[in-house]
Amino acid sequence: MSNWMVKILCQNCLIEDGHCPTQMPKFTNHGLMDKDDGEPSFFIVRDDLLHPLINGNKARKLDGLIPLVEDHSGTHVVTCGGCQSAHAAAVAVSCSERGIKSHLLLRGEQPEILTGYNLMSTIYGNVTYVPRSLYANREKMLKSHADYLAGSSGNVIWFDDIMEASLSENDGAMSFLQKDAYRSDHPRKIVIVNEGAGDVVALLGLIRLVQYISQNHILGKERPLKLVVDAGTGTTAVGLGLGAKCLGLPWEVTAVMLADTIDGYRRQEKRLISGFKRHFGLQIDHCFDEIDRGLVHWVERCHPRKFGNVLEGEVEACQHIAQQTGILVDPVYTLAAWEMSTVLREQEAEGGATVVMLHTGGTLGMFGLAQRYKSYFSNLKTGLFN
Ligand SMILES: Cc1ncc(COP(=O)(O)O)c(C=O)c1O
Repeated sequence: MSNWMVKILCQNCLIEDGHCPTQMPKFTNHGLMDKDDGEPSFFIVRDDLLHPLINGNKARKLDGLIPLVEDHSGTHVVTCGGCQSAHAAAVAVSCSERGIKSHLLLRGEQPEILTGYNLMSTIYGNVTYVPRSLYANREKMLKSHADYLAGSSGNVIWFDDIMEASLSENDGAMSFLQKDAYRSDHPRKIVIVNEGAGDVVALLGLIRLVQYISQNHILGKERPLKLVVDAGTGTTAVGLGLGAKCLGLPWEVTAVMLADTIDGYRRQEKRLISGFKRHFGLQIDHCFDEIDRGLVHWVERCHPRKFGNVLEGEVEACQHIAQQTGILVDPVYTLAAWEMSTVLREQEAEGGATVVMLHTGGTLGMFGLAQRYKSYFSNLKTGLFN
């Protein structure tokens, strides 16, 4: 395996004030740490360091959502996900940091050992395991749990309705005094957030990230870039692409397809774009044509497989990268972006655009994988010989 150096970009960037979705995150210890000493290298945006427990891409997706829940005086959030849902854990942690109660409906049975995202959801939120047959009808499941929590005096609202209201003139957001009065009249306001929170609101946090890293003292606005990211639903990639187009940056987003076909990703791209235009059309009408030409370059993974599967040798590859660079990638998501960045880096050496990988996080995912792929992880016990 060849040796890679990475130029660390945006280490420890923190969202310190999430109240306004368009406000820029403030950084500490940012800047380009260019450890260039002749080894092949690419840049990496360390969004994995945004928060110790919340995935980078989940933090970005909640960046615009949680402030709206707060503005609308939500007291409880109900959402759902798989047993090892990074989204559920992110909601649980973000809500508890703001004094909001979270209720996580997780698919299937409680595992024997609580670990990874499942453990964090359990520690920070209120977890209910839902049989798969009931989970299949997510809408009904979420609504009936929210109704149960609301009791006779509480209110239930879908986040999508908050989003709609926030864009109308009378957006339903309350002043400080109104919130106090509201709380005493309505002890509970239950907000239902869809699985993954992957809708239009999720794009705002990604656009904010692009705006931040395009500042002159970070990546700047002039040089052509290839931004590489791993794609599950594809929302993160579309958000990056939208940010780049809206800001007129010469950046191309390359997304490694992990969970769907190219047609599926293109449909998702269209769906998100039309939703974004519907909500924010006025702000982006200057670049409608650009956006319609497509935002994301969708590519196959270097070693394609069924989503979620780990191939032999990949855990060791992650170990090798960690030992060499100090950066942890996981075999399901970020290893895919890493491998693609190394491939594209070869083209950069021949005069192509600068390669920048967005590290979307996923550290806690390793713990769930270690339970599922016991034999691969046991191989680590013998260590690396080099
Ligand atoms: C570490 C990591 N990277 C990437 C993704 C995929 O993000 P998206 O669904 O926005 O494509 C996820 C989703 O769970 C993730 O946990």
